[in-house]
Amino acid sequence: MQNKIIILDFGSQYTQLIARRVRELNVYCEIHPFNHAPELDNSVKGVILSGSPSSVRDENALVPNLTNIIGQLPVLGICYGAQYLAQSNGGLVEASNSREYGRANLEYINSENPLFAEVEAGSQVWMSHGDTIMELPAGFEIIASTRDVKVAGYFVPVRNIYGIQFHPEVYHTIQGLQILNNFVVDICGCIQDWSPASFIEGTVEELKQKLGNDKVVLGLSGGVDSSVAAVLLHKAIGANLSCIFVDNGLLRKNEYHNVLESYKHMGLNVVGVDAKDQFLNELAGVSDPETKRKIIGRVFIEVFDAEAHKIKDVKWLAQGTIYPDVIESVSVNGPSVTIKSHHNVGGLPEKMNLKVVEPLKLLFKDEVRRVGKELNISPTILGRHPFPGPGLAIRILGDITAAKVSLLQEVDYIFIEGLKSNNLYDQVWQAGAILLPVQSVGVMGDERTYESVVALRAVQSTDGMTADWVHLPYEFLSRISNEIINKVRGVNRVVYDISSKPPATIEWE
Ligand code: XMP
Repeated sequence: MQNKIIILDFGSQYTQLIARRVRELNVYCEIHPFNHAPELDNSVKGVILSGSPSSVRDENALVPNLTNIIGQLPVLGICYGAQYLAQSNGGLVEASNSREYGRANLEYINSENPLFAEVEAGSQVWMSHGDTIMELPAGFEIIASTRDVKVAGYFVPVRNIYGIQFHPEVYHTIQGLQILNNFVVDICGCIQDWSPASFIEGTVEELKQKLGNDKVVLGLSGGVDSSVAAVLLHKAIGANLSCIFVDNGLLRKNEYHNVLESYKHMGLNVVGVDAKDQFLNELAGVSDPETKRKIIGRVFIEVFDAEAHKIKDVKWLAQGTIYPDVIESVSVNGPSVTIKSHHNVGGLPEKMNLKVVEPLKLLFKDEVRRVGKELNISPTILGRHPFPGPGLAIRILGDITAAKVSLLQEVDYIFIEGLKSNNLYDQVWQAGAILLPVQSVGVMGDERTYESVVALRAVQSTDGMTADWVHLPYEFLSRISNEIINKVRGVNRVVYDISSKPPATIEWE
């Protein structure tokens, strides 16, 4: 059985990062809300308690139930986790006079302690806390201090508990990965066997067991997640997997044709559905962004449902859900607003009365890419920028017409191809063009023109939650602007969006 680490989440912004780091050590781990620790079986080798935006001194402080954990498994408390363990055992936690944020150095380290094996005295760590442990309970030993924080690390020998006030999961803690390695591998004894290859092997086996001879349908979008999910399922159940790729008329130029072709080359059984007219008819005259999203979500479900029903005896709907979506929906803070409004086809399984299978729901985005690479999926698919479900509909501000779609497709094509041919595409997280609902005056030859304005947007991000505009070279922007104005009839002005998220968003609608 694969061994794993359980991370109990107290709502820290860094919780996912702890999981990422543990997985970088090739050890599987799961995040659970602090008040819903899972059943512990032999596969669980240790528990990490995360940090938290709240304080252990608050009246409604977050209190986990650790009865089955303490004394049974090694525990590492980070920040709030460390303060909670100290306070709940009789220690004293107080608001510190000097709230400590940012870099600090471990001036004292007990180098005999296994948590600090190979960690150098003076090593830089990252602090982010308003509370400090002032007194430790009996039986707790200090194993690290900084100049301002006496209890930067502690150890409880009889119960195998470790606490650290700083964050080993952030990059600014220079030897953070070493500390996590010491805990996960040496103290908990985890075997480092979590890799794309082992994931594929295990998942294909599980899918075979779970699905048997059942038929499965999956909606492909051209994106990374659904493509990797499809190839994985195909490996497990072969021809029993049917994929549907819907052309909603709002895709990029040539996208439908190209993507369909590349899926067929991968041996997938894919049906393409041309539903352009249906989408555009339903969207005619609609300008409100949320209404556009709802219409597109509803029509997609109708089209997909009708097509899926042509497959006889289908029992399962496969989805490319990934781990951050799963954690968002269970985490202490509840699902985030962004995820909700972007979940365009949430009602699909209920409407179709199918069971859901989500083969990627344990993976982070970059792990999905690594698995995809291991499955020999082409780099063009794996490296694709994210593209919103409602497509160009939310990049055409105001109402949508076929003419506007094709104008924007041309502009977007020039921009994206330009990024690719100038080796800029892979340095950008997401890019696209937006058609503004304004006309501006221009001059061409001797003629005065009154035509459309388009905005170009290119952002850097890791998860889409925050983003910054990319400082594309002026030379490049200048060439692209000329090319767009010269080649795309109806456009006489190009602007570049230099807003970050927040306060702006990536899309304009
Ligand atoms: P925003 O505009 O909220 O976008 O900064 C964050 C990320 O989400 C994508 N996005 C969507 N994806 N359906 C989707 O599937 C939507 O309705 C939607 N709206 C935004 C956006 O492209 C970016 O990657």
